[in-house]
Amino acid sequence: NIMTQDEQKRAVAQAAIQHVPFDCIVGVGTGSTANYFIDELARIKHKIRGAVASSEATAHRLRSHDIEVMDLNGVDELPVYVDGTDEITEYLHMIKGGGGALTREKIVAAVAKKFICIADKSKLVNILGKFPLPVEVIPMARSYVAREITRLGGQPSLRHGFITDNGNMILDVHNMQILNPVELEATINQITGVVTNGLFAKRGADVLLLSSDDGVRTIV
Ligand code: A5P
Repeated sequence: NIMTQDEQKRAVAQAAIQHVPFDCIVGVGTGSTANYFIDELARIKHKIRGAVASSEATAHRLRSHDIEVMDLNGVDELPVYVDGTDEITEYLHMIKGGGGALTREKIVAAVAKKFICIADKSKLVNILGKFPLPVEVIPMARSYVAREITRLGGQPSLRHGFITDNGNMILDVHNMQILNPVELEATINQITGVVTNGLFAKRGADVLLLSSDDGVRTIV
């Protein structure tokens, strides 16, 4: 009984619904797996108060299902944040930002009590870094930040024609073997002109719902 990758994404999205408390505001991530979660959330929308979105794309999809999108500043309690990932380790450290939404994702995740990562098994890795690490930069700093990242051993390339929801640019850093994600996350964030990088290690996921052909595994 082989499940396609899309079926696996839907399976973890359905499993994540069990983690949404009654009458709460839900933090919602960005990407194709998160989109399945939004579609599942739509079925229980009368049981939640609303959602906080991690991107304009997610806000748009939530509204298309008539789910109220709330401003994070007016929300003081966010029990869960549900999002996909580009890579995740068994320690629940992640690389995110393939869709370019890393900064808002990290902000909503920071507020949330629990980060629930939903992923198909292709996302599970031993060492982070095969997926290029996205770094959001203030446009005038992009060359400077690229030089500093090169000194750290990475190969940054500008994501051409892409502007983030915050009006910034993305450098995708190739060829990093990230053996200490907590340290590298902090080091890159120290470079002047960096808004955020896509390492979610200091605050990783709290729960990973991982799907494979035999179903959904919960890793905490
Ligand atoms: C968006 O910026 C990313 O952090 C996403 O969470 C990531 O790209 C996962 O997307 P998929 O679910 O489409 O793989």
